[in-house]
Amino acid sequence: MSEDAEKGAVPTPAFAPWDDPQAKPLIRFQGVTKKFGEFVAIDDLSLDIYEREFFALLGPSGCGKTTLMRMLAGFENPSMGGITLAGRDIVPVPPNKRPVNMMFQSYALFPHLSVADNIAFGLKRSDMAKSEIAGRVDEMLGLVQLRKFAARKPHQISGGQRQRVALARALAKAPKLLLLDEPLGALDRKLREETQFELMDIQEKLGTTFVIVTHDQEEAMTVASRVAVMDNGRLVQVDTPERIYEFPVSRYVADFIGDVNLIEGRIETLTKDCATVVWAETMPPITAGLPQGIGAGEACVFAIRPEKVTISAERPPDAVNALPGKVLDIGYLGNMSTYHVELANGQVIKSQMTNQRRLARRAFSWEDQVWVSFTATGGLILMA
Ligand SMILES: Nc1ncnc2c1ncn2[C@@H]1O[C@H](COP(=O)(O)OP(=O)(O)O)[C@@H](O)[C@H]1O
Ligand SMILES: [Mg+2]
Repeated sequence: MSEDAEKGAVPTPAFAPWDDPQAKPLIRFQGVTKKFGEFVAIDDLSLDIYEREFFALLGPSGCGKTTLMRMLAGFENPSMGGITLAGRDIVPVPPNKRPVNMMFQSYALFPHLSVADNIAFGLKRSDMAKSEIAGRVDEMLGLVQLRKFAARKPHQISGGQRQRVALARALAKAPKLLLLDEPLGALDRKLREETQFELMDIQEKLGTTFVIVTHDQEEAMTVASRVAVMDNGRLVQVDTPERIYEFPVSRYVADFIGDVNLIEGRIETLTKDCATVVWAETMPPITAGLPQGIGAGEACVFAIRPEKVTISAERPPDAVNALPGKVLDIGYLGNMSTYHVELANGQVIKSQMTNQRRLARRAFSWEDQVWVSFTATGGLILMA
C-alpha cells in the first residue's frame, strides 16, 4: 500500500494549513531544548502551530507538556533553540507583553467578585478605556452564555459555569493564543464532554488559536485539529486525530491512543504490496500492508484496533487473516460489546462489535469456539 493510498483512507479536513506550503505558522518552535539543571525536560523539539488551530498536547505525566506551554506563555525560557509568534522572536518578551493567555489547571476565580467582575478583572488592569470594559464583559458573558448570571458570586453557580467564567476571563483581552492546561480536569465525565463541545464552538466562533494540554486521549481526539503525542520531552507524532488513530507511527502511539491489540512477531516475507508476519508456531502468519523501515527477518509488532476484528462461528471463507480461538470474556458496554478471544497459543485478541439491536440475543457466549478475522488493511506492522 503506498503512502498516498494510505492518506486517501482518511479524509483530509477542509482546514489543513499544515498541508499548505504557503501557510505561515503562528507559533514556531525551532530546536527547542529546556533543561532544569542537568535534567532535559524538552529535547530538541521543533513544531509549527497555525492560526485558528485547536492544537492538543498529549502524553503521560512528566513528558513536558506544561513546560512547553510555560515557554509559550513566557514563564520559562528555552535553554537552546528559538520560539517565534507570528514571525517575531518572543523569547525576550515578558509574559504580560505577549498576546498569549493561559488558563491554568486550577482556574481559581475570585470568590468575593461577581461573575462579571471576575471577567472584567484583567481588563481593568489593562489600558482598555473604562467605557469599553462593560461592553467587552457583556460580549464575553454572551459568548459563554452566562448573561443571566453576571451578578452572581462563583459559589452561586455550578462547576461547569465556573469553568466558563474562567474561560471568558482568559479570552476577555482577546489573546492571539490561548493556552489551556488540563482545563476540564475538575469536571465530571458528562459535564466534561459537554464543555468540550462548548470549547470547540467558542474557539471556532472567535478564531483564536487554542493549545490544550490533556492526559485524556479521548478529549484530545474530540477537540483538536491536530494532536501532538509526546514522550520524554520529544514529539513522537504530530497529526490529525484520524491519522494518529488509524496510522500511528509507532507502537508507543498505537498503544497510547485508544485500544489496540499488539502481536509481536517477525517479518517473514515482503512483496510489492504486502508483508507477512510470523508470530506463533501454531498459528498462520498474518498478512498486512507494507511496513515502513522494517526489513525481512526483522522483529516487528502487528497492531490492530478491536473494532477492526470480526468474530464468527465459522471461518469466513474469503478472510485474508483468520485465527481460531475461544471466547474468554464478554464486556457489555450498552452501545457495544467487547469480546476477549483466547487463541490456541494463549494470545488474547479483543474484538469490538456495536450492538445495533436492542436486547438482541448475544451471538456468542463464554467458552464458544470462534474465529477472529481481519482484512489485510485492518492493522499495521510497526517497529518492535
Ligand atoms: N521548575 C522545574 N524544576 C525542575 N524540574 C522541573 C521543573 N518543571 C518541570 N520539571 C520536570 O520536567 C518534567 C516535565 O514536567 P512537565 O512539563 O510539568 O510535565 P507534564 O506537564 O507533561 O506532566 C518533569 O519531569 C518535571 O519534574
Ligand atoms: Mg502538566
